[in-house]
Amino acid sequence: MAIKFSERLLGWFKEHGRHDLPWQLDQTSYRVWISEIMLQQTQVATVIPYFERFTKSFPDVDTLANADLDNVLHHWTGLGYYARARNCHKSAKIIVEEYKGLFPSSLDEIMALSGIGRSTAGAILSLASEKRHPILDGNVKRVLTRYHGVEGWPGKKQVEAELWSYAELHTPTEAVRNYTQAIMDLGATVCTRRNPTCDICPLTKNCFARKADRQHDFPGSKPKKVMPNRETVFAIIENAKGEVLLQQRPPTGIWGGLWCFPEFTSDQPIAATIKKQYGFNIKQQTEYKSFKHTFSHFHLMIKPVHIVLEKAANTINEAGLSTWLNPVKKSNLGYPAPVVSMLEDLNNRRMVVNES
Ligand code: ADE
Repeated sequence: MAIKFSERLLGWFKEHGRHDLPWQLDQTSYRVWISEIMLQQTQVATVIPYFERFTKSFPDVDTLANADLDNVLHHWTGLGYYARARNCHKSAKIIVEEYKGLFPSSLDEIMALSGIGRSTAGAILSLASEKRHPILDGNVKRVLTRYHGVEGWPGKKQVEAELWSYAELHTPTEAVRNYTQAIMDLGATVCTRRNPTCDICPLTKNCFARKADRQHDFPGSKPKKVMPNRETVFAIIENAKGEVLLQQRPPTGIWGGLWCFPEFTSDQPIAATIKKQYGFNIKQQTEYKSFKHTFSHFHLMIKPVHIVLEKAANTINEAGLSTWLNPVKKSNLGYPAPVVSMLEDLNNRRMVVNES
């Protein structure tokens, strides 16, 4: 009889799979959950130090549930997609309140938590509890579309449904933890997007894409949409003590709950608006070169404008939502990536003045 897909993969995994990633040590549901959420949109090498810091500060679901959201976001600073951090915090509270702090054990209960879809729930159950549930993340989609020659974009309902049925078909009844890790590892290290190394792939013999020499046709790509450009102004308002003004954004929307420089539209008269809004007297104003930050669905051109205030003007009337920050000192607030890099550039006097 032909050797099964899962047997080939498990044989390969023993020797070539990844066995010592931080989340594979002490593989509890909590640790698997946090790692899977971090890995949803971020590469393994980037996630490792974040995962280690996060689980050191929040070693279990109780600690996470009782932590300040600001501190949780601070641990996520630089990873992006901050809704993931807010969802983890929210779900930890639900687990403590509704499940007495014990991670739920059924697929439906896990999927009902914030930010957990079917694939992540399947990964948690198979990796932490050896329960037979298929997964279908980006790596697995690539392996399965190539192996079975599934045409079309996997984000399309019908294509995704076909892939789930293949994922279900191949998931073995035993060694499901290793199988789950194996199929993700194969996708990440052998069946890669650009340069798949088919010669060393355990599935090569029956792979549709390999036989047809069409590896790069799979997975099919998403129908193209042009990403719109938007622009904004970030005001670095610096008081006489060298502190800068930061404001916490509303809890929902882009960068929800994170701390940012006050934002203006590019057609607003900035100095006059600041004077009116805060009563500050402005000593000096410098425009720096704009830079681009790209989100999943648009590009944002950010123009930093540095406003230096007259001496005494350092009171603010929005306590709680605004704070003066000494950019040289470490803080435990959460910032979006462009604010982190602006604070660093400010400290290192690297801001480039706009000459145009
Ligand atoms: N990507 C998603 N989950 C992963 C895991 N458990 N190990 C490595 N890469 C992954």
